[in-house]
Amino acid sequence: MGFPQNFLWGGATAANQCEGAYNVDGRGLSSVDTIPFGPDRMKVARGEMKMLECDCDHTYPAHEAIDMYHRYKEDIRLFGEMGFKCYRLSIAWTRILPEGDDDEPNEAGLAFYEDLFRECHKYGIEPLVTIDHFDTPVALIKKYGGWKSPKMIDAYLKYCRAIFTRYKDLVKYWITFNEINMLLHMSYMGAGIIFEPGEDKIQIKYQAAHHELLASAQAVKMAHEIIPGCMVGCMLAAGQFYPYTCAPEDIWDGLDKDRDNYFFIDVQARGAYPVWARKRMERAGVAIVMTEDDEKTLREGTVDFVAFSYYNSRCTSADPDILEKHARPGNAVFKSVVNPYLESSEWGWQIDPLGLRITMNTLYDRYQKPLFVVENGLGANDTIGEDGKIHDPYRIDFMRRHIKAMDDAITLDGIPVMGYTAWGCIDLVSASTGEMKKRYGMIYVDKDNEGRGSLERMKKDSFYWYKKVIATNGEDL
Ligand code: BG6
Repeated sequence: MGFPQNFLWGGATAANQCEGAYNVDGRGLSSVDTIPFGPDRMKVARGEMKMLECDCDHTYPAHEAIDMYHRYKEDIRLFGEMGFKCYRLSIAWTRILPEGDDDEPNEAGLAFYEDLFRECHKYGIEPLVTIDHFDTPVALIKKYGGWKSPKMIDAYLKYCRAIFTRYKDLVKYWITFNEINMLLHMSYMGAGIIFEPGEDKIQIKYQAAHHELLASAQAVKMAHEIIPGCMVGCMLAAGQFYPYTCAPEDIWDGLDKDRDNYFFIDVQARGAYPVWARKRMERAGVAIVMTEDDEKTLREGTVDFVAFSYYNSRCTSADPDILEKHARPGNAVFKSVVNPYLESSEWGWQIDPLGLRITMNTLYDRYQKPLFVVENGLGANDTIGEDGKIHDPYRIDFMRRHIKAMDDAITLDGIPVMGYTAWGCIDLVSASTGEMKKRYGMIYVDKDNEGRGSLERMKKDSFYWYKKVIATNGEDL
């Protein structure tokens, strides 16, 4: 059987990690523009350190990134050469509405993406657009405190109306929020939230989540009205928690940690809060402000497909000693213990292709909606060889094994999958570290962590390999 004939092979990026040109053509400042490179990055990203202006003591990777704003024609031509059927990208909210909720959209911003989508169609590439990929307008953070406030919902819907109306003939596939569960971990990066001293963080996070879920549901409905036949998805930072041992306490701990993540998608895909979530919130003293109308809104705005990123599985234990002794090294976003059965990347991300099949089966069993693998890849430190080329067999090996696991989920388990967009198909800024050195691309970009380099693009070995995979619809791995 193998991959369906209309399978959407491609790659994925996010505006803030590739466009640069952060203050060009009327674009307003966005949360990610103020997240610096270096030791303060995680504190700012988590909402534990306030940085709403850019200062001279820090550098900000999003400001130039890989300058795709000025080079998108060359980049899309290269995607076309690889045979992409789909390109997942995000729109920068503040290119369209610089203050986040302006009455009139910024024409230069609208025209930029219109042109970019037309360029994609020239090569037969279908755009898949993330409406909000770690991208909250700073003006709205100053005015409302980001997604802490329900006022964000109207602003987001104003932005949605502007882009759905303008791109209704150009974009069929949409995602409302990137990795919505990231709100719990990177609250500023994900939702423009900065915690004031003494604030109840859990209460704030779940209230903000409620606002995003309402916004997402209304956006789904609006998209269906403005663009008949379009498909709108939710998006999860996926990867199942494995129990460290078969002790029942460890099994429970894994299930409970998974629920932190599935919570969001349960609401977006099924249209209601799960019963256990209400009980859990009660126990944690969280009281969501929610009306009967809200429940109706959630019911009426369920998604058409479930998109997710998958980089690794996670591992947990109910035993605090094990948690401490085997903690994954580094500044991991998801607290996890090291799984002794798996190898790790240079950045300590564990490599688990079968985990992708496991995750896909769990998601499909749970939601019974088509899946879309919209991020997967290996962050590695590529170097230019003596022959002037970039040989990246480790990336090819990673992708081959993950694509094979996805093939098994389709062929052996019968799961409907819309497509696969490899993360960072062109090298871009890392979200967690702000580095350029952590490269995911099949296209190399000449730029280093310090911002030096010509920004010239070069094809890696993986470029030719992926081209062959797409040309044979996944037959020749
Ligand atoms: C996902 C994000 O969490 O993982 C991307 O949606 C991010 O924005 C990707 O870049 C890889 O993470 P990192 O930290 O290696 O860039």
